[in-house]
Amino acid sequence: MTKFISDRLLVFGATGDLSRRMLLPSLCALDAEGLLNPGIEIVGTARSDLDDQGFRNLVRESLEQFLPANRRGGMATFLNRLSYQPLDASQAEGFQSLARKVGAPQDGLSIFLSTAPSLFEPTIRGLEKSGLAGAQVRIGLEKPLGVDLASSRIINDAVAAAFPEDRIYRIDHYLGKETVQNLLALRFANLMFEPLWNAAHIDHVQITVAETVGLEGRVAFYDDAGALRDMVQNHMLQLLALVAMEPPVSYDATNVRDEKVKVLRSLRKVQTSETVIGQYRAGAIGGQAVPGYDEELGKPSNTETFVAIKAHIDNWRWQGVPFYLRTGKRLPRRTTEIVVQFRDVPHSIFTGRGARTVPNRLVIGIQPSENITLSLMAKVPGLDREGFGLRSIPLAITTPDAFAGPQRRIAYERLLLDLIEGDQTLFVRRDEVEAQWDWIDSIRIGWAEQRLEPKTYTAGSWGPSAAIALAERDGVTWHE
Ligand code: BG6
Repeated sequence: MTKFISDRLLVFGATGDLSRRMLLPSLCALDAEGLLNPGIEIVGTARSDLDDQGFRNLVRESLEQFLPANRRGGMATFLNRLSYQPLDASQAEGFQSLARKVGAPQDGLSIFLSTAPSLFEPTIRGLEKSGLAGAQVRIGLEKPLGVDLASSRIINDAVAAAFPEDRIYRIDHYLGKETVQNLLALRFANLMFEPLWNAAHIDHVQITVAETVGLEGRVAFYDDAGALRDMVQNHMLQLLALVAMEPPVSYDATNVRDEKVKVLRSLRKVQTSETVIGQYRAGAIGGQAVPGYDEELGKPSNTETFVAIKAHIDNWRWQGVPFYLRTGKRLPRRTTEIVVQFRDVPHSIFTGRGARTVPNRLVIGIQPSENITLSLMAKVPGLDREGFGLRSIPLAITTPDAFAGPQRRIAYERLLLDLIEGDQTLFVRRDEVEAQWDWIDSIRIGWAEQRLEPKTYTAGSWGPSAAIALAERDGVTWHE
C-alpha cells in the first residue's frame, strides 16, 4: 500500500450538508490538534458560484454551528487553508481549472467524493484527464454507491479505471465510530467471550438501529432508497460482519476485510416471510407531534421507513443462530445496540429449590450511550427459607466513565485522518460492497415478486406489530 501523508485535500460537494455538518468541522478539529500535515491546503468544490472568501465565510458559519466552541481554537488558521473552485462536474472543461487550483502536491492528494450517482463517471473521468488521479492520489467515496449490485459495479468499474483498489477508500461512517471499533477490542482483546461466541452458546443476536428523525429534507434521495438500502445494506451489515467474523490474522486492512467478506458471503438468502417493512404515520415522539411520511413527502409512496429481517449466516460458527435486524425512522428513541443472547445453562442445579436461571445477555450500546452490559445470575441475599433466590443482575460499564480523558469525536475525524494518512482498515473493500448488494438485491426481488407493501406504524412506536411477531414466533422479544 502506498504510504504518504497528503498535503492537499480536495472535497467535492463542499457546500453540501455532509460537508458543512461533518467534514469541515472534523478537519478543523483535527487541524487544531496538529494532526494534519502542517502545510495542508484544502480545496472545496461544488456547483455554487463562490470565491475563496465566500467559501471561507460559509465554512466559518458552519463551524460556529456544528463544532463545539472548545474545539474551534484553530479556526482562523484552518480557514486560511481553504480555497474554492466552482465546478459543474458533468462538463469536462472545468476539471483543468480545478487541477490548477489544487496545484502540484508535494506529498500527495486525498480526494473526498460525495456526489449524485449520475455524476460519478464524469467526475472520475474529469479527474483522470486533468491529472488528478496519479500515483500520489487517494479517493474517498461516500455513499450512495449505486442502488443495487449492477449499478454499484458500474460505479466501481468507473473508479477502478482511474484508481487501483489500494487507493480507493469506500466510506461507511459507522466504521468511524469509536464504539463500533470497540467491538473488535471486546471480541479479540478479551479471552472470555471468544470460546462462547458461536452457535453452541449463543441463542440469537439482535441488531437495532433506531432513529427518531424523519425525512430531514432528503425527500428525493430517501424516497428512492428506503430503509433497506439506506441503512441495512451498509451500516447494519458492517455491524453484523464485525459481530460474526472469525478472528483476523492481525488488525490491518487486508486481514480484517478478508474476514468480514466471508461473513457477508455466508448470508443466507432471506425468505420474504422473514422480513417486515413499515412506513410511519403521524404520531408523537418525546411529546412532540410529528407528521406521517406521506405528509412529509407530499404524496403517497411505497418506500419503507422501517425494516426488520431475520437473517442467517450459513457457516460452521453460526449455523442455527438467527440475527434479528431492525432499523427505522421515527421510532421512540435514538439507539443503536447489539444484543448477544446466550443460551441457558445446560442443567440447572437450583430447579429443585424453586429457582429459575435466566440466560446471560450481553448488550453493547453503540449510541447515543456507549455502554456494555452483561447480565449475570446472582444469589438473592437471604436465608432461603422460601427457596433459593436467583436474580439476573447487570454488570455494566459506561465507556465515557471508564475513559474520562479522551475527547468524543465525530466519526469522520477518524475516517478523514485515515484517508489522509493511507490506512484502509476502516474502509469497505469492493468485494464486501458487492456481497452486501447481492444479499440486499435478493431481498428486494422477493418483495417485488410478492408485491410487498409497507405496513403502517405510528411515529413514536417500535414499528409495525408484525416486526414484534417476527421475533415472538421464535420466542424472542426485541430488547427495548
Ligand atoms: C446515514 C443515512 O447513512 O446514516 C441516514 O443515510 C441516517 O438516513 C444516518 O440518518 C444515521 O447515522 P448516525 O451516525 O446518526 O447513526
